[in-house]
Amino acid sequence: MRNKYPHIFEPLTIRRMTLKNRIMMTPMGTNYGDQNGEMTFVHIDYYEQRAKGGTGLLMVENASVFSPQGSNGTTQLRIDHDNYIPRLWYFTERMHKHGACVGIQINHAGASAVSARTGMQPVSASDIPSKAGGEIPRPLEKEEIYEIVKKYGEAAKRAQAAGFDCVEIHAGHSYLLSQFLSPTTNKRTDEFGGSAENRARFTKLVIEEVRKQVGPFFPIFVRISAEEFMEGGNTLEDTLDYLQYFQEEVDVFDVSAGLNGSIQYQIDANYLPDGWRSYMAKAVKEKYGKPCVTMGNIRDPKVAEEILEKGDADIIGMGRGLIADPAWVNKVEFNREDELRKCISCNVGCAGHRIGLNIPIRCTVNPAVNANDEYYKRKINKPCNVVVVGGGTAGLEAACTAAEVGCTTFLLEKKHELGGLSVQISKIPDKKRLADFPTYMINRASKLKNLFVFTDNDTTVEQVKGLKPDIIVNATGSNPTLPPITGLMDLVDKDDSNVATVIKMIERINDYPEDMKGKKVAVVGGGAVGLDVMEFFTERGCDVTIIEMLPMIGNGLDPITKCDTAAKMKKYNVRQMTNTALQEVCNDKFIVKTPEGNIENIDFDYGFVCLGMRANTPIINDLEEAFADTDVEIYNIGDSKRARRIIEGTEEGRDIIKVLEKHEFL
Ligand SMILES: Cc1cc2nc3c(=O)[nH]c(=O)nc-3n(C[C@H](O)[C@H](O)[C@H](O)COP(=O)(O)O)c2cc1C
Ligand code: SF4
Repeated sequence: MRNKYPHIFEPLTIRRMTLKNRIMMTPMGTNYGDQNGEMTFVHIDYYEQRAKGGTGLLMVENASVFSPQGSNGTTQLRIDHDNYIPRLWYFTERMHKHGACVGIQINHAGASAVSARTGMQPVSASDIPSKAGGEIPRPLEKEEIYEIVKKYGEAAKRAQAAGFDCVEIHAGHSYLLSQFLSPTTNKRTDEFGGSAENRARFTKLVIEEVRKQVGPFFPIFVRISAEEFMEGGNTLEDTLDYLQYFQEEVDVFDVSAGLNGSIQYQIDANYLPDGWRSYMAKAVKEKYGKPCVTMGNIRDPKVAEEILEKGDADIIGMGRGLIADPAWVNKVEFNREDELRKCISCNVGCAGHRIGLNIPIRCTVNPAVNANDEYYKRKINKPCNVVVVGGGTAGLEAACTAAEVGCTTFLLEKKHELGGLSVQISKIPDKKRLADFPTYMINRASKLKNLFVFTDNDTTVEQVKGLKPDIIVNATGSNPTLPPITGLMDLVDKDDSNVATVIKMIERINDYPEDMKGKKVAVVGGGAVGLDVMEFFTERGCDVTIIEMLPMIGNGLDPITKCDTAAKMKKYNVRQMTNTALQEVCNDKFIVKTPEGNIENIDFDYGFVCLGMRANTPIINDLEEAFADTDVEIYNIGDSKRARRIIEGTEEGRDIIKVLEKHEFL
């Protein structure tokens, strides 16, 4: 396949570093570090999976050049003391054995540091928080700026001593250097504020100091937010202007985008097409003639190849794509493209964990983040029949895993197609990326000779008994929650009714006209599903009202989706009614109680009830009764255990390994 994608597999030499291919894992915080900032063995395993998977360059997540002041998050890596060198050296040695090059991103978080963790007021260019509701920072004194410049230089020197092949200075994404570069956060009147040259001065000093410390042969990358996508923020044109002050000593521009307030363009929302932001790298490359990295939802090798072939960028950055599939490069190189497990840009396990919840990252589609990636090398020690009832993503993961370790596995699905709710949701145009997950699963299942799939199958206890199971997996999914509210059950999802669940909406998705200007849509429930419905209808011109019982809309969502949906609600003037309870459902209105206790009619042409999902368990009681006198374990997973997100179902599906261990098949 190297011939199919010659540009992806063309080596690239930058100063004394030669990359074997053009895929760079972009820096991504993991929360895998030790509390003292040391790299852990969890880290090393995680990066090693990606090195083994063929990645040309791994750019390690942002490491602090000056802690605690510049610290970015619990368990962030540190590189501000020589004590960190030995572990980092051990790390680079392990990565190099797989032929990967390694760099590390060095950073000071500035106003994005949190006083609760650092014990001090954060610092920045001015006294402006780096995100809405963030802490007010203290403007840095000039001497402090020069001190931090030195810290960057020392950090880069340590990176070199630890065996890294290059270093990346983080000057984007609302961290300290970006806070100086962006007019949204820099209101200084000294030589570090005002004109582009002044705002660029701090970063320029850092670049010069780093070069001084690492010498002439060591590549320096600089990551920038080329388009900040913020009111009053740097546009691409502004960035092209200030880069003149950096370009002399920089070897590679890592052309990212977005600030904290526009994070959906930095950690791309799922509807943004593969490689949508390569125009930014192209512009930087055209102006300065330096190698550039582009990234952003790039999952498809054809898109990566095309960007390289056109010369829009020289390196393809892949972040989440490599969390989801550490072997992306090897699969593309060795003719296993159909096996790619593409990231669906859900942001649940990665950004949701790292930024939203401050816990170690996981992945919706890859339950081997971050353990047990070689489970499939194990094989059962005695025959074992596994029957999986329900072919959604949880059931598919359980069935594939069981079959991969040698169980004779039967997957029974009621519907005609496999994939469950994720296939249905992916029919909403903005959610189409979600389909990549069931597609991958179905393909994986189809290659397993000991996995027998029965669709259009209304499972009975007798049928399950006939398959002589040792383990039964119940993965029968969920249905929309419909509380006992006057009028709801009489109207919802009925043929001639205007009141529907998301399931019915999807069934009717091709019947809604493209232009629905003036139509009124009311959505009860402001969670993930309600917001999907909101997006669909606002984009068609409808006036949308969201009714939510909680004090906030988007409760529990990952920070990217939250930021994106908030921007859309603002853009489309969505009426947001929080602390508001549904009282009664009619065919043309919802009757609600406002926080003030008033009863109000919310008229609609289309009304949707999105109050979450509840477990659907049509057969589990009968199975438990039928197998009560046996050793057969009934393992209930995914939404049929408790309606949650895809990530929990996938993880529980993979955990069939634990059940097999318990029963000593493994
Ligand atoms: C969990 C997570 C952590 C991230 N941490 C960093 C970081 O430390 N430094 C950085 O420059 N970008 C960071 N990013 C941004 C990614 O490097 C990348 O640019 C972005 O996810 C878009 O590329 P992708 O669509 O290939 O994931 C992070 C992204 C995620 C999802
Ligand atoms: S959790 Fe979602 S966005 Fe993150 S890497 Fe996995 S699939 Fe992609």
